[in-house]
Amino acid sequence: MSLRASLFAAMYDRMSRKSEEAGVSDMRDDLLADAGGHILEIGGGTGANLSHYGAKVESLVVTEPDDAMLRRLQDKAREQAPLAKVVQAPAENLPFEDASFDIVVSTLVLCGVDDQERSLREVRRVLRPGGRLHFLEHVRSDDPAVARFQDRINWLNHLVAGCDCNRRTLSAIEAAGFTVSRLEQTALPKAPKFVRPSIVGVAVAG
Ligand SMILES: C[S@@+](CC[C@H](N)C(=O)[O-])C[C@H]1O[C@@H](n2cnc3c(N)ncnc32)[C@H](O)[C@@H]1O
Repeated sequence: MSLRASLFAAMYDRMSRKSEEAGVSDMRDDLLADAGGHILEIGGGTGANLSHYGAKVESLVVTEPDDAMLRRLQDKAREQAPLAKVVQAPAENLPFEDASFDIVVSTLVLCGVDDQERSLREVRRVLRPGGRLHFLEHVRSDDPAVARFQDRINWLNHLVAGCDCNRRTLSAIEAAGFTVSRLEQTALPKAPKFVRPSIVGVAVAG
């Protein structure tokens, strides 16, 4: 486990508090409160979504590959979602049968997976036909000037946060065979300019 990853895990909740209070927490509510059936969340991190799931959930599995994040996720799951199952796994290699979930949730994860195309292929594989991907991701800006800035600063973002700030994640979701059925192009509140452009929505597996 790298020192960067340990520090990032230790600081994550504190670093994100202002953004959460300024609106990200409401975005999570909006994305998840109505989600029902058998749900898989990828890259669960410190468990920021756990308190946002509603009564329609029949089962919840949360995956996370990083040791330091995983420990925090397990602690939070014990407190807030004792029926949730926590599994250590990367999104590129999900240890689940084909078509085993109704919904996959990805919040602030597709920016940092090692292989976005492979991760989305795995997400699609484990979703039943017609299943849905609920996403909240920071992405490459549509404004060319901001996108150029994101390209220039990406090395620093990668060093600190371990992810890319300039990925075309919406195109990648569509290229993976999903049909986007709900989309809001928005901004992460109180986030640095280069990680502000965001997409929140739902995509249906074909
Ligand atoms: C910015 S955090 C987001 C955590 C959480 N989803 C949230 O909304 O607060 C990114 C998370 O993705 C995880 N991650 C990194 N590489 C991954 C991969 N290949 N597959 C799945 N998760 C990954 C990180 O360990 C981290 O927990």
